[in-house]
Amino acid sequence: MDRFIVEGGKPLVGEIAISGSKNAVLPIFAATLLADSPCTITNVPELRDVKTMLKVLETLGCRTSAAEPGTIVIDPTGVDRFDAPYDLVRTMRASFIVLGPLLTRYGTARVSMPGGCAIGVRQVDLHLKGFAAMGAQIETEGGYIKASCPRLKGAEIYLDFPSVGATENIMLAASMAEGTTVIKNPALEPEIIDLANILIRMGARIAGAGSKIIEVTGVRRLTGCTHEVMADRIETGTYAVAAAITHGQVRLHRAPVAAIQSVIAKLQESGAEVSIGDGWLDVKGPAQIRSVNVTTQPYPGFPTDLQAPFMAYLTLAKGSSTVTERIFENRFLHAAELGRMGADVRVQNASSTIINGVDTLSGAQVMASDLRAGAALVVAALAAKGSTEIHRVYHIDRGYVRMEEKLAHLGATIRRE
Ligand code: UD1
Repeated sequence: MDRFIVEGGKPLVGEIAISGSKNAVLPIFAATLLADSPCTITNVPELRDVKTMLKVLETLGCRTSAAEPGTIVIDPTGVDRFDAPYDLVRTMRASFIVLGPLLTRYGTARVSMPGGCAIGVRQVDLHLKGFAAMGAQIETEGGYIKASCPRLKGAEIYLDFPSVGATENIMLAASMAEGTTVIKNPALEPEIIDLANILIRMGARIAGAGSKIIEVTGVRRLTGCTHEVMADRIETGTYAVAAAITHGQVRLHRAPVAAIQSVIAKLQESGAEVSIGDGWLDVKGPAQIRSVNVTTQPYPGFPTDLQAPFMAYLTLAKGSSTVTERIFENRFLHAAELGRMGADVRVQNASSTIINGVDTLSGAQVMASDLRAGAALVVAALAAKGSTEIHRVYHIDRGYVRMEEKLAHLGATIRRE
């Protein structure tokens, strides 16, 4: 199993490009199931989760090919299976997103229940309530969810919580349902807009993506198209924080600047200098990081996926900060690992922590418990004195394109072994 070895204490300096968004490309791949001809998707990040999603599509009968680096052609015309097996869904919960497209296009779908994972329970009840409101019969048997309905019917669906996955799954299903579906209290995340954009390009009728009411009027046929995936706002935030904690200065090209305003605000509050231009973001780390309080919220609030890297940053702030997690339970697994590096993080309860800033972190052997916790350990290691060994790097590879190469390009001493 690969690990990263980081010699900390070097400021990150230079320029890198941000890759395509993991959380945008996964539902976009699922959307291709709805087309009656091949789709070409560009700016696809080379990630483990992307490979898993391609495997799911291939299992269903899609033909996929890499036209050139970063460009994937998906031909859904041979789909002849309608079930996503446990082995694949288990490794990536986001594969549950194929349920909506299969159900609406083929009238039947059988997808393994995702089950729990390292960051809380993560249910799918909101997805299922949406499908049921559209007329689907839903059964659970042997760890699988089976949904069927000859043709879904448009419905008014109110989401108790603006779940990203449920909003996407319902949008996908509604695109080919009979009549109009109105989603109230949907997620507002930029990835929802990217998904709506490809669906509209395929011929779907969707209004209001990114706002508090989404209206989807179903059509009988969607056709293949070419679509460029938006840039990854979480990768952007991670490198911005890495630059700031090392007192460095970096330019991030292709950064989705409008989509990370909450993160820019918190970086500025902590003393970092941030400037933006057309598609780039400059970050200059403060000489002394100031403590700030952060609460994760649905978009446009501070993203839960940057909670862990930002906590790592605050371990070296002057004074006490609080970090409150409002999206997931049990998302502080990185706190104990940061403690091994000399951080003073006190977990108060399942949703809040107090971080008392320390003068220095020191290198240690640590373990990534999940994707973003892994990124947090890299951020801490870059600023720590001495050598840090980060185990279970496969978590990081799920969501960051060749992280060690991008960091080395900025002058970090990091290697994979
Ligand atoms: C997506 C992102 C993930 C991010 C999360 C929140 C992808 C592939 N993943 O995950 O990186 O951390 O949004 O921004 O895009 N919930 C329910 N019932 C449901 C669905 C969700 O109770 O049917 C709860 C979950 O348990 C969780 C919260 O809602 O506590 C947020 O989940 P959701 O917004 O659905 O996140 P994902 O789509 O899984």
